[in-house]
Amino acid sequence: MQDQAQTLTITRPDDWHLHLRDGAALASTVPWSAAQFARAIVMPNLKPPVVDTAQALEYRARILAARVPGSDFQPLMTLYLTDRTPPQEIARAKASGAVFGVKLYPAGATTNSDSGVTDLRNVHGVLEAMQREGMPLLVHGEVTDSQVDVFDREAVFIERHLQAIRRDFPGLKIVLEHITTSHAVDFVLANDARDARGAPLLGATITAHHLLHSRNAMFRGGLRPHYYCLPVLKRETHRLRLLDAACSGDPRFFLGTDSAPHARGAKEADCGCAGCFSALHALELYAQAFEQAGRLDRLEGFAAHFGADFYGLPRNAGRVELRRQAWTVPLSLDYMDTSIVPVDAGETLHWRVAPAGAAATQA
Ligand code: NCD
Ligand code: ZN
Repeated sequence: MQDQAQTLTITRPDDWHLHLRDGAALASTVPWSAAQFARAIVMPNLKPPVVDTAQALEYRARILAARVPGSDFQPLMTLYLTDRTPPQEIARAKASGAVFGVKLYPAGATTNSDSGVTDLRNVHGVLEAMQREGMPLLVHGEVTDSQVDVFDREAVFIERHLQAIRRDFPGLKIVLEHITTSHAVDFVLANDARDARGAPLLGATITAHHLLHSRNAMFRGGLRPHYYCLPVLKRETHRLRLLDAACSGDPRFFLGTDSAPHARGAKEADCGCAGCFSALHALELYAQAFEQAGRLDRLEGFAAHFGADFYGLPRNAGRVELRRQAWTVPLSLDYMDTSIVPVDAGETLHWRVAPAGAAATQA
């Protein structure tokens, strides 16, 4: 068989969409992500959300303080766009050097999105400022209209809103986040405009769980809340399109885990929260997906090159080694004073990140 290499060494990867939460959670979430990634785009959907540069800088300091000694993990901060975000905030955010994107949550679309945008007309001035400043718009691409079937909300968002944003702000950098459908893949492929540096103006992140699972995973033998996230897993044909896109070597598709930790009790409940936790073993999950597609050779571009190139940041200098080694994802982990269930708990994975220090860090 091909691809029976026992080790795979790639440039240190980054996570271009991550939820770290705040407070006591940081003591767990920051070390988990830092063990796998050099940098991460940190989502602003705290309670209350991170709406201005001052709050982003304070949040950044709390994240840095939660690193284990010697860690060089860098959080790349984002602002949460609201109906009331002043356009002048964008220049402040840019000048801080710490804010790398502004997040659009349609109001009510997902966990902690109540302060999101109710009508895109309310943020035109902000989008103009972002286009001018070269500040990327990070989009949770789902309509919230309860008349629209939950499995169609991404496709309908693209039709109703994203086409118009692209048309009205042709120079705006946009990341369509955690894409889940062939419609999203098609939309990205149809937009190949470049910025002044030659980097794509439109990109998309893809999670590991959307590469590995179709919606069947939520119903395998019963209701499986730990596979419930937003945008929700879709049918197998969509998963195959996403895997194809991720493995294509097209620099518009890059890694974003959307690891979204929720304590076990908040997921195993009458009205369980949306979010899959994958930070612990993200790279191993992606390696599993790429190996299934016979394209382990494309993992490095997707995980470590294309996101940095999109954001105009240097690629990481260090390397990380994965080893072929069967291991079982833990059923549960300690998380604050409770526990958390990772994606694919109890399942066997075939790759494992070598511990830092083994081969991980030399430039
Ligand atoms: C995220 C969360 O829990 O913060 N949940 C999720 O299902 N992905 C929010 C989000 O990114 O949609
Ligand atoms: Zn998210």
